[in-house]
Amino acid sequence: MKLAIVGAAGSIGAPTAFYIAQRNIVDKIVLIDPNQKLLKNHAMDMTQAVLEVSDSEISTGDYKDLAGVDIIILSAAQPAAAVTSRNAWLKGNLELLRDVTGEIKKHVRDKVIIVVTNPVDICTYYVYKQLGWSRNKIVGFNVNDSVRVRWALHKTTGLDYKKLDGLCIGEHGMYQVPLFSQVTYEGKPLAITDEVRAATNKAIHDWTTEFLELADARTTGWLCCITLSDLVADLVKGSSKPIVSTTPLEGEYRERDICLGVPVMLGPTGIQEIVSLPISAEERMQFHEAAENVRRVIRDAGLQ
Ligand SMILES: NC(=O)c1ccc[n+]([C@@H]2O[C@H](COP(=O)([O-])OP(=O)(O)OC[C@H]3O[C@@H](n4cnc5c(N)ncnc54)[C@H](O)[C@@H]3O)[C@@H](O)[C@H]2O)c1
Repeated sequence: MKLAIVGAAGSIGAPTAFYIAQRNIVDKIVLIDPNQKLLKNHAMDMTQAVLEVSDSEISTGDYKDLAGVDIIILSAAQPAAAVTSRNAWLKGNLELLRDVTGEIKKHVRDKVIIVVTNPVDICTYYVYKQLGWSRNKIVGFNVNDSVRVRWALHKTTGLDYKKLDGLCIGEHGMYQVPLFSQVTYEGKPLAITDEVRAATNKAIHDWTTEFLELADARTTGWLCCITLSDLVADLVKGSSKPIVSTTPLEGEYRERDICLGVPVMLGPTGIQEIVSLPISAEERMQFHEAAENVRRVIRDAGLQ
């Protein structure tokens, strides 16, 4: 199994390459990034670091090295420090993705691509349209919001994080939809009171505000390397339970021609199934609001 990471010198790309190598999930990892010196630095260091535990072969490369690839992680982005507004961020990253998808198309057809670049709902939609690959190959990365819901539930209830299960669908952003109706503890449904729900939402909001106020160019590389490596492991071995992915929708969850976070089962050919959960009426309404918001941004950006 061959994996390539485009944007591999960055805060997400480099730790993710390291952790996937450390877990010995794939045979080959090709690192691609215009920041050649830093890229080489990571590759030289990482190769020695994982020798004891891994057979993964790590190399730096160019787009032509995408030949024979099974999975691409796309975390290329313009420097966060250069971003002055959400619009500038979107415009700059769409321009970057136009070039990157143009290069990818020259060397790969219909393989699995994990889109990490933010705003991920819009970028995944754009990559899907630009590449023209089957929709089950398009896996937008949206796992961290579910981790934060479980973390916040653990914090507010004191319940063991490892025994909690719960997902967050919708937009990766303000219009996220924590599925409180579907939370389980030790595999059994867990009733969430209004107080716990409010405290959980507040904990997520406070964490996000505090993290953003650090105003550092660094994103969440540590969490991403864990959750992205889990996602790649699911692709290689097949999911044992649903994971949220920003996915092109064609009627699922009553939305179409849009990419939003929904529960999916993964396997070597990409998304095997979009899992239809019996979510509450309120969650369905929140999901629709998320879709309307993302649709507005897509239209404003002239993509639809
Ligand atoms: N979806 C999610 O849950 C999630 C979570 C965290 C971060 N992100 C997003 O992931 C992206 C990457 O984050 P990061 O912290 O690694 O950023 P970063 O700035 O550290 O890394 C981006 C990398 O992309 C490279 N790059 C720039 N132009 C390129 C091009 N044309 N081709 C290939 N590579 C190119 C840069 O050299 C850099 O190494 C950002 O958009 C960030 O907002 C998404």
